[in-house]
Amino acid sequence: MRHLETTGDLIRLHSECLARGWGPRGIPVDIMGQISDNRYRMYFQSANPASAQYKWLHAAVSILRPKLVIEFGRERGLSGLALWAALRHLPIYKLISVDTEIGGDYFANAMIDDRNFQRVLGSSLGRDCMRQVQRFRWKDPDIVFLDTTHDYAQVGGEITTWQDTWYPGTLVIIDDIHLGDLGVLWGELPWPKLNISNDVHETGYGIAIFNGRQFRPRRRVLRQNSFEREYRGRF
Ligand SMILES: C[S@@+](CC[C@H](N)C(=O)[O-])C[C@H]1O[C@@H](n2cnc3c(N)ncnc32)[C@H](O)[C@@H]1O
Repeated sequence: MRHLETTGDLIRLHSECLARGWGPRGIPVDIMGQISDNRYRMYFQSANPASAQYKWLHAAVSILRPKLVIEFGRERGLSGLALWAALRHLPIYKLISVDTEIGGDYFANAMIDDRNFQRVLGSSLGRDCMRQVQRFRWKDPDIVFLDTTHDYAQVGGEITTWQDTWYPGTLVIIDDIHLGDLGVLWGELPWPKLNISNDVHETGYGIAIFNGRQFRPRRRVLRQNSFEREYRGRF
């Protein structure tokens, strides 16, 4: 993983992602074949900056070459697929995808069979989820993608719950920072950061580098809990 430290590093990363565009290195058709919905296929192909977040994720992974990526919020699997499609070309990588629902309908078969990819079923704030992540690999993710419920209390809870497991240089990507009160949290983050919403996603997209400084939210956030018994054993 390339070392990230300053806002300048983020600006460089973002311009490299834009320059890379969506050419032959994009998500190959055989991988996209699992995506039956045309609207979602378009997200991977179109040049529209309103919904270029998947292309951006794919480009960022190809450029940074991370060893461990954790996504919180998988839904049908588009972001996971975009991440994995770039990761699978690297000699060493792991991808962990966390959600309270099984989801992942769009995952390619090769992705489901890949031992470097792990689906975790549980709440991002749950102790059981942490235990599951720990079993696979625990600390020092190079990239963390936060895309569950888009509000201050939830994302603030995820950051305060997980930040001890990050290292100075972990890239934190937050989706939908223009929704609800998430902009307030974005403003409070004490790390080098860059709002790339205009180029990537109309409802907001922020990238930040965790620099070791703890985020101390000014508003109330959800706390880590153990109320997730209902999710256990469903895989
Ligand atoms: C916006 S969708 C994720 C979209 C996906 N990242 C993509 O771009 O393809 C949000 C997902 O977060 C999940 N979610 C909501 N609260 C959660 C929590 N506390 N822990 C884990 N996942 C959660 C929902 O089940 C839903 O699938």
